[in-house]
Amino acid sequence: MSRIITLFNQCGGVGKSTLTMNLGYALANRSHRVLLVDLDPQASLTTFMGLEPTELKATIYNSLLEDWKLPILTSIHKMDLVPTNINLSVAELELISALNRESRLKNALNPVTFEYEYILVDCPPSLGLLSILGLTAATHLLVPIETEFKSYFGTGLLLDTVQRVKTHVNQNLKIAGFVPMKFDKRRSQHTRTLEQIHRELSPLGTIFPAVPDSTLFSDATEVRKPLACYKSKHPGIQVLSEIAIGLEKL
Ligand SMILES: Nc1ncnc2c1ncn2[C@@H]1O[C@H](COP(=O)(O)OP(=O)(O)OP(=O)(O)O)[C@@H](O)[C@H]1O
Ligand SMILES: [Mg+2]
Repeated sequence: MSRIITLFNQCGGVGKSTLTMNLGYALANRSHRVLLVDLDPQASLTTFMGLEPTELKATIYNSLLEDWKLPILTSIHKMDLVPTNINLSVAELELISALNRESRLKNALNPVTFEYEYILVDCPPSLGLLSILGLTAATHLLVPIETEFKSYFGTGLLLDTVQRVKTHVNQNLKIAGFVPMKFDKRRSQHTRTLEQIHRELSPLGTIFPAVPDSTLFSDATEVRKPLACYKSKHPGIQVLSEIAIGLEKL
């Protein structure tokens, strides 16, 4: 059965795109068929996967606004990718008057859903319409949360948006869980925030193991690779693999 997992947090820079690529790789490494979807006009995921966004002939924009067949680039680090570029930034305005706008991503994915066990959707850092499309298409929501006080602060707003989507357009949406990101156990604020995440969010969904703070994540994306292809012995890889195993139980 396909699981469409949308990674969403309106807070910028928490590690959504990094987690999408690295978790996708961990799932693909466990022999699952994985499709990544870049729903952020910044195109970080598209870039992390080694593509040049300005050179793309077709992107998710064409599928959402012009009903094109989904453009799928195959076999990049064992995964497939629906890329994007800056053209998607006008989509929110254009979608305002579009019929059935919330379901546009869900409908675009429909013909290929059965080909994949996991479809991971990387949302932009906003509560806007593109994120709503991501949540409407999803079977599950995965929330990366930075273990910083400031980042945790916005979680209430995020959960309000999820509740609105559940009430109005996607009753079946489930919270897969929360992934604490950039955790540095030497920093007491990180430890306190992680405890708070466990205390306050565990009634809502699984709290997955914390992804450690490490500049090697950034170094790996700089050379357009998942961390596991860059530093295969990094402790973060075991954590990503544990999260992947957790997602197999959904
Ligand atoms: N575990 C980590 N440890 C240290 N740095 C990290 C980690 N994960 C991601 N980063 C770095 O944090 C920065 C933001 O990451 P990323 O682009 O994945 O976040 P994002 O939430 O997708 O951002 P945006 O909100 O802009 O879409 C990048 O420089 C990335 O390399
Ligand atoms: Mg991103």
